[in-house]
Amino acid sequence: MGPPTTPSLLTPKRNITLVTSPNRRSFIKSASIAGAAISLPALQYSRVYGANSRLGIASVGTGGKGWSDLVGVAASPEVQVIAVCDIDSSAGHLGRAAERYSDARQYDDWRKVLDKSNEIQGVMVSTPDFMHAPISLAAMQLGKHVFCQKPLTHTVFEARQMKAAANKYDVVTQMCNQIQSHSAYRTAVHMVHTGMIGKVKEVHSWQSGTPAWPRHIPTPKGNDPVPANVNWDLWQGVAAERAYKAGMYHPFNWRGWQAYGTGQLGDFGCHILDPVFKSLKLGSPNKLTATAPKLFPESWTDQATVRYEFPGTEYTVGPTLRVTWYDGAGVRPPRENLTGIPADEKLPGAGSVLIGEKGSLVIPHVAMPKLYPEANFPADKLPVIEGVNHYTQWADACRGVGETTSHFDYAGPLTETVLLGTIGIRFPGQNLDWDAESLKITNNAKAQEFITKPYRQGWEPAWV
Ligand SMILES: NC(=O)c1ccc[n+]([C@@H]2O[C@H](COP(=O)([O-])OP(=O)(O)OC[C@H]3O[C@@H](n4cnc5c(N)ncnc54)[C@H](O)[C@@H]3O)[C@@H](O)[C@H]2O)c1
Repeated sequence: MGPPTTPSLLTPKRNITLVTSPNRRSFIKSASIAGAAISLPALQYSRVYGANSRLGIASVGTGGKGWSDLVGVAASPEVQVIAVCDIDSSAGHLGRAAERYSDARQYDDWRKVLDKSNEIQGVMVSTPDFMHAPISLAAMQLGKHVFCQKPLTHTVFEARQMKAAANKYDVVTQMCNQIQSHSAYRTAVHMVHTGMIGKVKEVHSWQSGTPAWPRHIPTPKGNDPVPANVNWDLWQGVAAERAYKAGMYHPFNWRGWQAYGTGQLGDFGCHILDPVFKSLKLGSPNKLTATAPKLFPESWTDQATVRYEFPGTEYTVGPTLRVTWYDGAGVRPPRENLTGIPADEKLPGAGSVLIGEKGSLVIPHVAMPKLYPEANFPADKLPVIEGVNHYTQWADACRGVGETTSHFDYAGPLTETVLLGTIGIRFPGQNLDWDAESLKITNNAKAQEFITKPYRQGWEPAWV
């Protein structure tokens, strides 16, 4: 790697400490309390909504998951869809959104969607992973609120940038790990916070499904004609140019390629590790080691284990906490590590187990959590925390009503951890020491190169 465009890794840190603008939420609060005329920069005025104002949004990437993202946010009567954008004009992509939101302007190029006017106040980014940060950063730099799919970014550096930008531009953000708002995950977090299993000693998280995307294969040769409905140049965006191959990249199958996706851990980590992060208030790991087969140069594997060590928190036992991630067809954590869970108890296909001092908590992905030993946790005494709407939570927060729970202050570090794991998978068997503050893998210069990546000439993001 070692790209000429590699930004200084110290930049985000410097900018984080330079955030001095008043916080949007505290402004709304103080302005309404004081009821007085306060002198504010134009940008901040433009984003202070009355409770009856509608939020103008643009959706970038309207096929695949983007469709349910758009429908989810636009379900709020307080939202108006101003623009829809997709590089594929066919019915399953731009077509369906253009039909449903027929008053919205239509685009194939997200750069044309983002303008300085205040008509679009919020931008939804539901593109493949490698385009999340370039689009979201550009939107935030124009003062627009952002709702972005998981994983938040494609590189650790981008994740740090997203957090810095959200703070610097004081915008409302939400990563779409929507299960966080589901009753199941909210209940699990509540169970830990209320001490039901005591302090946590160890965590195991896994995804045993077989991915539908291509994996562990060499780079395809040759090229296929680009369909008339697809703008392949725009799809490639910030990535190095390559030949179009039908069924290999667009749609959906980009996940299997390092240039575009983040493999199985990247695909599911921001979901499955989310209640672990939220409940234990984890930050950055100190170190990690992965086991995985040797990768092909460009594709991802479908079986990996990543062993993280985190500094302990108020919800964990001892100075460090081990969190182990497993993925692969049929994989489950070793039973001997699952204290308190009967050997014949069927574990879910994906989820987490938190081993606590007073019991063990199984958090299926996605079903209500279970506590062991069952005799200690009678079913009729278990709490149930209601779910909330992850999509309209963002739209409401943009209008000054409530707050988001997967804002980039939270989603950035979660994504950094997930993506550090994907770096570990590239260096199986090697311990990687992580210094979060300096954004450095301190003991492996080759691994450090993957903290960022090269960008296509003319497409380099503007960093914060
Ligand atoms: N939160 C969840 O549960 C969940 C579920 C599935 C996917 N996702 C995430 O959603 C994102 C999209 O995944 P997907 O499976 O829908 O992929 P996809 O390839 O099926 O769909 C992506 C859509 O974005 C469009 N697109 C691609 N590049 C674009 C660009 N530069 N500008 C505008 N439009 C562009 C594509 O044409 C397509 O319509 C990924 O980040 C993925 O991880 C999240």
